[in-house]
This record gives sequence, C-alpha cells and structure tokens, in this order.
Amino acid sequence: MSKTVLLATEKPFSAAARDEVVAIIKGAGYTARVLESYKGKGPLLEAIADADAAIVRSDIIDAEVLGAAKKLALVVRAGAGYDNIDTATAKSKNIAVMNTPGQNANAVAELAFGMLVYLARGKFDGKTGSELRGKTLGLHAFGAVGRAVATVAKGFGMQVFAYDPFVKPEQFQAAGVEPVGSAEELYKRSQYVSLHVPATAETKNSIGKKLLSLLPKGGTVVNTARKEIINEAELLEVLAERQDIRYISDIAPSDATAAALKEKFDKRTFITAVKQGAQTEEANVNAGLAAARQIVGFFERGEKQFIVNP
Ligand code: 3PG
Repeated sequence: MSKTVLLATEKPFSAAARDEVVAIIKGAGYTARVLESYKGKGPLLEAIADADAAIVRSDIIDAEVLGAAKKLALVVRAGAGYDNIDTATAKSKNIAVMNTPGQNANAVAELAFGMLVYLARGKFDGKTGSELRGKTLGLHAFGAVGRAVATVAKGFGMQVFAYDPFVKPEQFQAAGVEPVGSAEELYKRSQYVSLHVPATAETKNSIGKKLLSLLPKGGTVVNTARKEIINEAELLEVLAERQDIRYISDIAPSDATAAALKEKFDKRTFITAVKQGAQTEEANVNAGLAAARQIVGFFERGEKQFIVNP
C-alpha cells in the first residue's frame, strides 16, 4: 500500500524547498501532506494520525504526538539536534528517528559570524570596535557545525581551539584546529567561544559561572546550539560581575532572562528574534531534501544510516 509522508514545519521551509521535498515524496509514489505554520498541537495530532513517515524541524514530537500516530514508522528531523523528539517513546513504539547531520551546518556557521561581527563592532553604533583577525576562538564541541565554524574562522584569521571528548585527535588536526583537554582550558584560552553542544540530560545547565568566569577579558560566547545548555541564572550573575563579558544567542532564553538581558546588558548581548541559524534557502533545501531521500531509502531499500534511536 502506498505510503503517506507528512511534512510538518511550524517554522516553514522556503516554498521552493517545500516543493522539492513534495516532489521527491510524490516521485516515490507516496502521498505528500504538508502542514506549515501551524499553531498549537491540535493540527499536528490530526495530521500525523495516518502518516507512515514525518519530516519535522524543531516541532515537538512528544509521547502525545507519537501516540496519535497510528501507522508511523519513521520521523526525520530535517536538521541536526533531535532533542525535540521523544526518541525513547518512539523506540518503544518501533518508530525510527533520524536526523540529517551537516545539512544546515554552513548556514549556522555563517550566522554565528554575522552575530560575532555585529557585537565586535558595537552593534554598528559608529564607535570604535574590534576585529576578529588574530583573536582566539574556542569551539565547545566539534560536530558538523563546529567544523563549519572552524572553516569560516580560518578565513577571518582566527586561532581556533576545540574541546570535544568524542572526537579523535586526527579529526581536529585535519581541520587545522588545536584540541584542548578540558572545557575549562577552552574557556580560559578563548576570547570567543562558540557553542555546539547538543541538549541532553548531561549537558543541560552545564555552561554557567564555573566556565564563563574563566573567559579572558572581553570574552564573548556565541550560542547557536540550544538554550537548555546555559545556566541562565549564572549567566546573568557573570554578566553583572564582569562588565567585559558578552553573550550572543540565536536561541531565545526564558522570557525573564531575555528581559533582564535587554534591561541590564543590552550593549553586551544580542538575541535573534526568531531562531534562524538554519533559515537559509540553501539549508532548507539541503536538510529538507536529505530528509525526503532518507525516507524513500528507508522504505524502499531498508537504509538505516541516520537512525538515532537504534
Ligand atoms: C538544528 O538542530 O538543525 C538547528 O537547530 C536548526 O533548527 P530548525 O530547523 O528548527 O531551524
């Protein structure tokens, strides 16, 4: 029987990317359903009921959503981080979960640098700012996005360090990046730290005063990863104690923290209005099409390469 594939994106892809995703699904002889810019869980619960597979972005796929799905065999997160999906419940229901690692990495890396330049130039206030060339950059985690950030950083003439206990020394060397032995050492040596840590039970609230207070003078942290990895109370504490520290994020913190950042530390902080690291035409196409192709590969050829809940 023909499969039904749902593309559910609360934050939609570009129209061109969406149309190409739909074309791949239809090209495989499947039925394509599109649910974009939806509000609340209701429409998703309804749309996923008869889907065999779903493509999502940061859409919350929790036990309730999985419970509403009667035939679901596969969810593909068109992107890197899959903390929005209850992978354990999916596994218990025999639903495979995949991501599309690396497909939006360059888009995120470019945004990180856009924000770094914006802050280094005093939010374009016309006063004397500073350059990135010759400065030290620490990558906290060295996956696909960390590697893309390293590539851009080299173009800026930065000296790049990285800390990632899961990466082999030769992988750092191949990227021309100097590995350091601990997160503490990374924060101590880096004028700029770029976060690429996934949100897991272990990493939640893991970046707080202990690490942030190690930053050298003028230390700047750019977060294009996840809000959960930051200990927000301690971030506010460090910003109050150290007038030189700066924080930039593509992921809004809690409303209370966002209000405090704006009120007390506006000149030294910047938060994008909507998370937009992966919001480029190219990243939409790369991640969306990869997701659609992975679904076809899974059903037609039993391909399991990107399953994250084996
Ligand atoms: C990711 O994990 O791939 C990024 O955070 C992008 O998320 P988005 O697709 O929700 O923009």
